[in-house]
Formats: sequence, structure tokens, C-alpha cells
Amino acid sequence: MEYQNLLTELRDGVLIVTINRPKALNALNKGTLADLRQLFGTDALAIDGLKGVVLTGAGEKAFVAGADITEFTTIDVQGGLEMAQNGHDIFFLIERFSKPVIAAVNGFALGGGCELAMACHMRIAGERAKFGQPEVNLGIIPGYGGTQRLVQYVGKGKALELLMTADMIGAEEAHRLGLANHVVAQGEEVNKALEILTKIGKKAPVAIAKVIECVNTYFEDGEDGFKKEVVEFARTVGTEDFREGASAFLEKRKANFQGK
Ligand code: COA
Repeated sequence: MEYQNLLTELRDGVLIVTINRPKALNALNKGTLADLRQLFGTDALAIDGLKGVVLTGAGEKAFVAGADITEFTTIDVQGGLEMAQNGHDIFFLIERFSKPVIAAVNGFALGGGCELAMACHMRIAGERAKFGQPEVNLGIIPGYGGTQRLVQYVGKGKALELLMTADMIGAEEAHRLGLANHVVAQGEEVNKALEILTKIGKKAPVAIAKVIECVNTYFEDGEDGFKKEVVEFARTVGTEDFREGASAFLEKRKANFQGK
């Protein structure tokens, strides 16, 4: 796996992905977005036995400080459409990824960085993490799903406040609002994410994938998540893993899931 701006490490079945542009506070330029598309759309899917992905930022200061503002200088309306659509497509790849994806938020998660963290299935915040959607300071609105996903996590009133004031919030407030799953000592974000992924890695992989699909369906327009759950529940009942899980429980032993 070769990327312009991502570092990757496979550790005990978990792919640790570091966005590596620390001098620009890991801002998402076109190259980094192309890397993320390649990783979540192709490369990570081909890793045998993958348990999950941790996304973090290089350096001491930032997870991701937003879209790369230096690329905004020549953009026009058509370019804006293409940019937002591209971001949406990539962030949906992450949100719909069949293995858990956790953002280890080690600093600023602003604009596209906050949106990237929100597209992940969970967020672990270091004590110095800061979340925010500062786009209105620049005269634009979020374009990578921020107006939608922020509402999902913190509710309409708080989302409108954060989106209109451009205020940054710290890790504790993000946790209190439901945006961060956990707050940990600075530098422990990846370890906490690995701890959670190790736990999930012991569960039945098909069931985990179906949990992700069904929860995502709740937020999809025109889709009935309850109906989807009935269908997917039945699918999991048909898996070898279910037979193994039920037998293991009755035989008082640990289940050995094969992901089938
Ligand atoms: N795009 C491109 N470059 C960025 C960037 C972004 N979103 N965010 C930070 N950088 C660059 C800065 O231009 C600076 O580059 P330089 O050293 O060549 O001057 C470098 O990263 C360090 O940032 P700096 O602003 O000096 O750090 P700071 O600690 O004073 O402030 C922030 C940190 C995050 C508060 C500030 O960088 C900031 O507000 N960034 C923009 C956030 C934003 O609006 N994001 C949404 C974009 S849509």
C-alpha cells in the first residue's frame, strides 16, 4: 500500500492509518482524499482477517485541521460541487465500511477533520482534542457531511449553534454531547481505539458488519431500518458463526468465529 500522505501499519489485524501532513496540520488536500479513497475503497478491503481501522493524525497538534484552504483559491461553483461530492463519496466509504473504523482524535479536528472523525464509527478524544466546524468564518458551509452528521451526534439545537458560531469545543464537552465516545490521556487515543477493536475483533465478523449496516440505515432517507433489521437478523441466523456462537455458549467455551 503506497500513499502520498498516509502512513499505514498493520498491528494484530488492525490497520493504523496516520494522515501525514503535520506541517499543514494534516489538512485534507486532493492527494490525501485520493489516498483515503484508495484505502477504504480498495486496499483495506483486500486485507485478510482485518479487524478494523484506526485513523489518526501525525504530529502533536492536529488530527486534521480541515480541508486544505490553499486549494480554495481558484475554486468556482462547479469545482465546489465536485469537491463536496468527492468528499461525500469517500466519507460514505468510511461510514459504510464493513469493519469498525475508529478516529483517534489527537488534536484539532476542524471542518473536514471533524467531518472525517464523524464519518468514523467511533471517536476517541485525547485531552487536548478540539472539535469544530469553522467554515462560516471563511464564508462557506461544511461540505463533507458536517451539517448532517453533527445533528446526528449532538442534536439540532447544539449543531446549529456550533455550525453558526464556529466555536471549537474541547474533548470533555465533545464527550458530554455524545460526539466523542471516550476521552483519554493525551497520546493514549490509538491505544484506546486498539483496545476497543480487540474486543470487537473477538465477535462474529458478519454480525459486526450487519450492525454497522443496520445502524447506518436509520439515517438513510426512505429506508426502513426496522425492516432491514428483520432481514439482516435472519441472515445472521443463517451463518456458521451463529451456530458456533450458540454451541460455544451452551458448551461453556469461547466461540471461535470464522466470519462465515
Ligand atoms: N488548510 C491548509 N493549511 C492549514 C490548515 C488548513 N485547513 N490549517 C492549518 N494550516 C497550516 C497553516 O497555514 C500553517 O502553515 P504555515 O506554517 O505554512 O503558515 C500551519 O498549518 C500551522 O497552522 P497555524 O495556523 O500556524 O497553527 P495555530 O496553532 O496557530 O492554529 C488552527 C491552529 C487549527 C486554529 C488554525 O491553523 C486554523 O484555524 N486552521 C484552519 C481551520 C479551518 O478553518 N478549517 C476548515 C477549513 S474548511
